[in-house]
Amino acid sequence: MATPVTAIDFETRYTLPIIEKVEDSPEEIRQKQERVRELCKERNAILLAHHYQRPEVQEVADAVADSLKLSQAAAKTNADVIVFCGVHFMAETAAILLPDKIVLLPDLRAGCSLAAAITPEELLKWKAKIPDAVVVSYINTSAAVKAESDYCCTSANASKVVSSIPADQPILFLPDKFLGEVVARQTGRANIVAYPGYCHVHKTIRPEQVVEILDEHPDVELLLHPECGCVSSCMAKAMDGTLPQSRTFFLSTEGMLRHIAASPAKEFAVGTELGILHQLTKKFPDKKFYPVNSNALCAFMKTITLDRVIASLETLTPQIRVPEEIGRRAKRAIDRMLELA
Ligand code: 13P
Ligand code: SF4
Repeated sequence: MATPVTAIDFETRYTLPIIEKVEDSPEEIRQKQERVRELCKERNAILLAHHYQRPEVQEVADAVADSLKLSQAAAKTNADVIVFCGVHFMAETAAILLPDKIVLLPDLRAGCSLAAAITPEELLKWKAKIPDAVVVSYINTSAAVKAESDYCCTSANASKVVSSIPADQPILFLPDKFLGEVVARQTGRANIVAYPGYCHVHKTIRPEQVVEILDEHPDVELLLHPECGCVSSCMAKAMDGTLPQSRTFFLSTEGMLRHIAASPAKEFAVGTELGILHQLTKKFPDKKFYPVNSNALCAFMKTITLDRVIASLETLTPQIRVPEEIGRRAKRAIDRMLELA
């Protein structure tokens, strides 16, 4: 699969926040959560949290889910205020879907290395090289990039979105090269060109760590987020029988939860950001989970603390807004995805 651009030093494009240690006692956490709920009631606010959020933030949320489910929850809410405990592109997606509501992102440092990998200018240059291509953008992109795209997708529905596009149409898939490889393999399409971006966290989930975890726990089912740096190696090994194909799955974070609920397996190796372990251990106390990489932490996600959620609800800042014209064009790509979902 050809890639259009080489030698971009993606890591110079963002500043990683330092992960702050919060040392609240259980009683302080309880009081802060109570304050959050009080404020949500006063403001008629809904609090949406991603699976990678801190456990105490997940616990106070109205919904904890993956990018797809969170955008669906945002799309149908009657609340006046949406507090997005996630990262910037997620809050932006809510603001695009609901331009008349107040969308809060409690810490503006909550960016995303993957979303930083492509600008609208870069996308336009790329499109000019293959003008008849359909552009499919991962939800981890800016509103301005979505505005230049035909379809949006998430890790939960990328292959479904791509399969809905006529087979003879070339596709520019962006910005995640690993997800692009999974989609090309799952859909069997040769005419997908993937952008060479990646998530700095998932890239560090490596083939050798998969080998190591399977050596230690040979009976696990292997659940990998399709952004992981090990996906090509794992897909190849699943094909040649080196990895047990029937026990290797590429799933969104929500997909992992659904899969585990339906699986008779008792042990799982989990390749994604560690925040998901909170929901996994809470929902499935009699199953065992082993992280493939126990350092996989997203510093952007961890900027959101209970204190910042409280401050955000008290002051109704920082608000995320998208310029009307960009929002209108980005919404077309998101709506196409939501219709398919
Ligand atoms: P999900 O949509 O699978 O939750 O993934 C979002 C994300 O940012 C993964 O890094
Ligand atoms: Fe972005 Fe990676 Fe963090 Fe997901 S884990 S929000 S892709 S930086």
